[in-house]
Amino acid sequence: MSREIREKIEKLRQELNRHNRLYYQEAAPEISDEQFDFMLKELENLERLHPEYDDPLSPTRRVGGEPVKEFTTVQHPRPMLSLANTYNEDEVEAFTRRVSDGISGREAVYHCELKFDGVAVRLEYESGRLKLGATRGDGVSGDDITGNIKTIRNVPLTVQGTDVPEKLEVRGEVLMPLSSFKKLNSQQVDAGLKLFANPRNTTAGTLKLQDPKIVARRDLRFFAYGVFSEDHPFSTHSEGLDFLAAHGFQIYPARSLCKNLAEINRFIAEWEEKRDSLPFEIDGVVIKVNQTGLQEDLGFTSKVPRWAIARKFSARQASTLLKDIVLQVGRTGAVTPVAELEPVFLAGSTISRATLHNEDEIRRKKLSPGRYVLIEKGGDVIPKVISVDESRPVPEGPVWQMPSQCPECGTGLIRDEEDAVARCPNPECPPQVRGRIEHFASRDALNIDGLGESVVDLLVSSGLIRSAADLFTLTRDQISGLDRMGEKSAENLIRAIGSAREQPFSKVLFALGIRHVGANAAKILAKNFKSFENLAAASEEELTRVNEIGGATAASVATWCRDEQNRNLVLILQQAGLQFEDFSSSALITDSPFSGKTVVFTGTLVTRKREEAETIIEKLGGKAAGSVSNKTHYVVAGSEAGSKAAKAAELGVPVLTEEQFNEMIAPYV
Ligand code: IVH
Repeated sequence: MSREIREKIEKLRQELNRHNRLYYQEAAPEISDEQFDFMLKELENLERLHPEYDDPLSPTRRVGGEPVKEFTTVQHPRPMLSLANTYNEDEVEAFTRRVSDGISGREAVYHCELKFDGVAVRLEYESGRLKLGATRGDGVSGDDITGNIKTIRNVPLTVQGTDVPEKLEVRGEVLMPLSSFKKLNSQQVDAGLKLFANPRNTTAGTLKLQDPKIVARRDLRFFAYGVFSEDHPFSTHSEGLDFLAAHGFQIYPARSLCKNLAEINRFIAEWEEKRDSLPFEIDGVVIKVNQTGLQEDLGFTSKVPRWAIARKFSARQASTLLKDIVLQVGRTGAVTPVAELEPVFLAGSTISRATLHNEDEIRRKKLSPGRYVLIEKGGDVIPKVISVDESRPVPEGPVWQMPSQCPECGTGLIRDEEDAVARCPNPECPPQVRGRIEHFASRDALNIDGLGESVVDLLVSSGLIRSAADLFTLTRDQISGLDRMGEKSAENLIRAIGSAREQPFSKVLFALGIRHVGANAAKILAKNFKSFENLAAASEEELTRVNEIGGATAASVATWCRDEQNRNLVLILQQAGLQFEDFSSSALITDSPFSGKTVVFTGTLVTRKREEAETIIEKLGGKAAGSVSNKTHYVVAGSEAGSKAAKAAELGVPVLTEEQFNEMIAPYV
């Protein structure tokens, strides 16, 4: 019996690893996500019942282990060097000449590949099992980040095959795909938190996190670009990469063997042109002598190999006129200077505005309207003003000064030293009032249809509402009397506002717009405290004790709840019938076909409202999304489903009928 169980566990682990590889490395899954999850669940159950067969490298461990206090330092057996960089063709030519001179008469072949813009790591395998993942550090020693590396889904935890060397070292780059980076930043926006600057910094920051569970949620990827094994020497670099590819490592296919400078230059030109179409950031290409024997003969300088060079791409920059610096006031009162630019086309889009973050940055960069500036677009797609364009004449005139008063309401600004941001302290300041109401009505908050920016603006400027609380006493006549608002739209709006009463406490809590409380934190707080009353009574310390609630969130919640005006708002909203208690059944269901899955609903559902179906998905531990992407697991198509179902078909995302959906949820609702 016990042998059978062990074999079953082994078999499941192998199968799961194989399917993981098919999914991530080969983009050719043989089974559906649902079947994969089913197998994973089966393995989890068996492992729970039979802890004697525990394996820290089981595929069930990708979710991340226990947090570490600090990383241990590990020595690199061979230093992790960097590469000589160049930005121009002549230097690439000079490199090939140096190579030829260094190998006297023999013929070098060049392996050209992408220069991934991420973070270098080194992986050690022993008997085919991942033993260590380490950062580069200073090149001689780095941090042991094995716990974090194990969460990266395309890093093989075990290397399968008959010819796996006893010791294997794999080097490569960890990076965050652009789509995942954008998603992460939109979650930051929802939570009222600072945006991450670019995918590379985010990757570096993520790998330094001490809690692997958070790393597991960040969708990092690993691309191998080097391999070393004493027991299994490779005669060429490309042979080494082919070996890795055959053993489950992801090798990006954009690579080519080039015999001469012309071929190398063609590869460089091709990828400089195509870089914007890649799903991740690159900052150049790397040209390596392919033959290992020649690499050894060429050797290293003190810092870099003589057999490789990085041809970096210049940043995507443009020069344009800074027409003006205007101030934007957000819903939390943060006053952000924004550059108004002469529109200019750069890497796929026209740019006419760019945030300047804060006053210090403007001063540091000596920016002033009338000057020409260099703008750059990084992986984040958000344009940045890099510096003044020194090649253009600098007009005379005063340096830009940050006004001391709010541009919208005239109140004296306060400087928030924590993040060098100027804030307008007046809660009645119009853009703050509008921003809070817009947030209250937004999709992830109370999802009040028809209450977007322009209608909020109309209602506020006409004096009908001053806070979200006023929405619930609006009458149809009041609304229909406004510009561009007929009887019908007034009626619809009243109905939509009324439907906010059906939204669960977690959404109400998010809608309140408490700083640092995003949609996710609101869900966690609602689940843990069950009611606003309990939440308001909790001390900061009690708040931080909740898993995933940090100090800044706890402090912000406590301060918000103490404020008289905020408490009044809650009181009025309670009287209006909004939910300030959590009635949902306690724990999330995690073993349904939709747990951990992203589902998009489209068309009209017959048996229930779309919001209700979305709430069910959330109860089943899944996520309801608004648009179809390659991150979507299922599309549920009601009647008259349009482009979303078509997009799903195009991307190969399974499309369920409402009936199939109902059957799948039936055991859980
Ligand atoms: S080879 C001894 N190949 O570039 C040669 N590096 O400036 C070691 N990088 O720290 C590096 N893509 O993080 C190599 N295809 C590639 C690469 C690559 C990105 C990074 C790597 C390294 C840095 C060197």
